[in-house]
This record gives sequence, C-alpha cells and structure tokens, in this order.
Amino acid sequence: MAREFLERKGVEEARLDAELLVSHALGLDRLQLFLELERPITSAELDRARDLLVRRGRKEPTAYVIGKREFYGRDFFVKPGVLIPRPETELIVDRARELIQGVGREAAVADLGTGSGCLAVTLALELEAARLWGTDISAEAVEVARENAERLEAEVGFRVADGVSGLAAIVGERGSPLDLIVSNPPYIEPGEADSLAPEVREYEPEVALFAPAGDPDHWLRSLLDSGGELLTPEGALLVELGHMQAARALSLAEERGWRGRLHKDLAGIERVFEAQRV
Ligand SMILES: C[S@@+](CC[C@H](N)C(=O)[O-])C[C@H]1O[C@@H](n2cnc3c(N)ncnc32)[C@H](O)[C@@H]1O
Repeated sequence: MAREFLERKGVEEARLDAELLVSHALGLDRLQLFLELERPITSAELDRARDLLVRRGRKEPTAYVIGKREFYGRDFFVKPGVLIPRPETELIVDRARELIQGVGREAAVADLGTGSGCLAVTLALELEAARLWGTDISAEAVEVARENAERLEAEVGFRVADGVSGLAAIVGERGSPLDLIVSNPPYIEPGEADSLAPEVREYEPEVALFAPAGDPDHWLRSLLDSGGELLTPEGALLVELGHMQAARALSLAEERGWRGRLHKDLAGIERVFEAQRV
C-alpha cells in the first residue's frame, strides 16, 4: 500500500522509499522489516508511517524525512539546510585513497564545502594515515558535519569559512601545505533550476546547489589559482564536476600550469576532476 501511494504521487523510487519510510516508522532497519513482516502494527506506528509517507508524497526527500542518508557504507545525519550526500561523490573517496597511499607519511587533507561532512568524515575513517579538515560557509552545515564526525568517531577539524580563505587559514596554522584538497562545490547554473527535480529545487539549500554569480567554473578557477600556495608540490586537487564542465576543467588547468585528469562515475559521466601541478 505504501509503495502504491508513493507511485500515485509520482515518486520515482517508490518501492525503496516505501521500505525506508515504513521501516523508519517502525524503528527497524530494512532487513528487519522483512524479517518481521508478520508482526502486527500498532496504531501509533501506523500514524507515524502515514505521516512520513505523506511528507514523501509532497516530494520532500526521503533523506530529510528520515534524517539520514548512506554514504560509503555509513549513515550520515542530514536535515534541511544541508545537502544530501550523493552516490557519485563516493568516487572522490576512491581516488583520494589511491592518491594518499603514495604520500608515505601522515597526509594533510582538506574538504572545501563539506556540507554533512560526508567526504571529510569518510576520508578520516578510510585513509590509514591522514589528518582531515572540513570547511563550509554554512554554520548549519558545519554543525551537522561535527555531529556526524562525533557519531562515527572520526577526527576532523571543521570550521565555518568562506572559500579558499578557510584553506589558507588551515595551511597558515599548520605552517605546512596540504597534500590533497577535495571539494564537491556548488556548480549548478541558475538557468538549470527548472530542470531540477522538485525534491532538489524545493528542499535542498540554494547555497549548496548553485554556482556563485551563475559561473559553474568559479570554484575550479579559485582552487586552481590558489592551489599552488595551498598544496605541496606533489599535492593534488579532486573536484566534483557538473555535466558539461569536463572539457573546460582541462583547459582551465592547462592554462594555469596544472596537469588535469578526468574520472568517470558509474553512469560513465566525467564526474571528478583531478589536477596536479606540472
Ligand atoms: C554541493 S554541496 C557539497 C556538500 C558535501 N561536500 C557533499 O558532497 O555532500 C556544496 C557545499 O559548499 C558550501 N559552500 C557554498 N559556498 C561556499 C563558500 N563560499 N565557502 C565555503 N563553502 C561554501 C555549501 O554550504 C555546501 O555545503
């Protein structure tokens, strides 16, 4: 019934969402939901499930309704005001793991625009020897990122800061440059707003979605222009790209004396841009 209700409301992944919402209402995980199919439901549970399904039917993202989203095998707490982690961003973690293996000492890694902290926290837990920082202009995001780090027992230095100035402050305090900067910056152009799903357009924070001044390459340029002073000579940038950005990323890097490389996501889209100085 839950699934049919969501299908009628035009929810795309109606079956998965119905399972997530109903199991959340019953205080179970998805596997337990199947194991306890015969268990009678109390009227309080039914009311809770109905409320969650109605919210989802109004296109509120499931992650906001249940307050979490899985990223790289771990649950991250999210709420309105903080971007919901996306699976394609996991590619940055895969590539960061490979890059950091070659450092041969404790690596220093910073995440610009950390949001829920999904990248910084995951890297802190996945990299064997690394120190992690995460910055965001949104105090709300940093608060959520700190909460995620604490719950997942990851050590990350989070701070509220605007753009590359936050990274420069970290380098200044350390007295030495970073080995890796990762970022999934806002890259959507204002003209694309109408093509976004209502879940994204109406519920996720504009500051996390839209490129500053309508320029999707703003953060690429900013990181390439400042990266020389922020990174060790062998240091690297890993930046998530929007569609259509890949070719421009390569030429922006080349113009500035960087060697650029592209990594495709599972859908075959050039999603992550890697750059090291020539
Ligand atoms: C696309 S979201 C990425 C969030 C998270 N890293 C992830 O992958 O789910 C971009 C993030 O950049 C932050 N942001 C936007 N403008 C910024 C700025 N000027 N300085 C620092 N962070 C900024 C937003 O608040 C948002 O959390």
